[in-house]
Amino acid sequence: MTKIRAAITGIGGYVPDYILTNEELSKMVDTSDEWIMQRIGIKERRILKGEGKGASDLGVKAVEELLFKTKTKPEEIQLVICATITPDYPFPATANIISDKAGLKNAWSFDISAACSGFLFALETGAKFIESGEYKKVIVVAADKMSSITNYTDRTTCPLFGDGAAAVLLEPTTEEVGVMDHLLEVDGAGRQYLRMNAGGSVRPASHETIDNVEHTVYQEGQTVFKYAVSKMADVSVEMMRRNNLTSENLAWLVPHQANMRIIEATAKRMGLEKEKVMINIVKYGNTTAATVPLCLWEWEKQLKKGDNLILAAFGGGFTWGSIYLKWAYNS
Ligand code: UT7
Repeated sequence: MTKIRAAITGIGGYVPDYILTNEELSKMVDTSDEWIMQRIGIKERRILKGEGKGASDLGVKAVEELLFKTKTKPEEIQLVICATITPDYPFPATANIISDKAGLKNAWSFDISAACSGFLFALETGAKFIESGEYKKVIVVAADKMSSITNYTDRTTCPLFGDGAAAVLLEPTTEEVGVMDHLLEVDGAGRQYLRMNAGGSVRPASHETIDNVEHTVYQEGQTVFKYAVSKMADVSVEMMRRNNLTSENLAWLVPHQANMRIIEATAKRMGLEKEKVMINIVKYGNTTAATVPLCLWEWEKQLKKGDNLILAAFGGGFTWGSIYLKWAYNS
């Protein structure tokens, strides 16, 4: 029987207009453009302004652009998977809200919480629905409003994050393109180094949790850095090995954008030149689940059918992984 694969057949993206520069951050906390550029590699990040706006407002813009570009009618979509750690509400799922706002009347939907690896986890999940043969049009959307859980009095975390969203359409193909292989891993013990302390069932919101600023990202940066550098590279190198990919036949590495030094270390372990690495951290920072698809969105015109791509991420959970993707179209 011919194998059905899941191909990405279109991509939409969205970043909000407001640009938070290193100069503006330097007025909020004791930091500098020089430190942030040297240690992280971020110049500016986008922030979603306005009362009552959440991750769904970012996600729906990406989905609308995706539908427009792929000439897909909203009612054709059967399933929406949203990767986010900044849902509009603890429940219902942000995927449901995006579906409602975009008029995806025939889709069922759910969220995936895998932090910075969220897009990879959601992509593999969506791919399995397509590969089953039952699903013809699945949307995977990654949307994070990180500004809603960033402590803008903590200089060790506030320069890192930005807001953004991107969405892809998955459709079946019998050609040798699409999601080819995946290596996804978790280590729940990593929660001690990177998490949000309050707002869940262990520590529901209270005056105390608010006074202690526990509703924002807590991170032990150096430990997370060490894990990220080794784990992201380990799975990417293994992905190359088991698919006979080399620095020559691999077209692009699409890495999570958390720190320029982590990206460079990963590319080096893979033997890749910088020209083959998608990097936009300098202008968007770490948009968590959205970094990888936002790169695909920006580089879409340069991608050619048959290009070999490795997507790689590491993040809270800990979660990490690598996906080998063969690009499915010329735009
Ligand atoms: O996407 C989810 C996964 N997350 C990541 O992958 C992030 C991984 N971690 C990192 O990227 C880095 O650890 C950070 C960028 C968060 C921090 O960089 P670092 O090189 O590990 O710095 P550090 O924490 O070791 O701090 C070095 C110094 C400290 O000062 P002292 O103690 O040496 O006097 C910090 O207080 O830099 C200081 N520092 C800053 N100085 C100016 C920390 N943040 C800042 C800042 N501006 N924003």
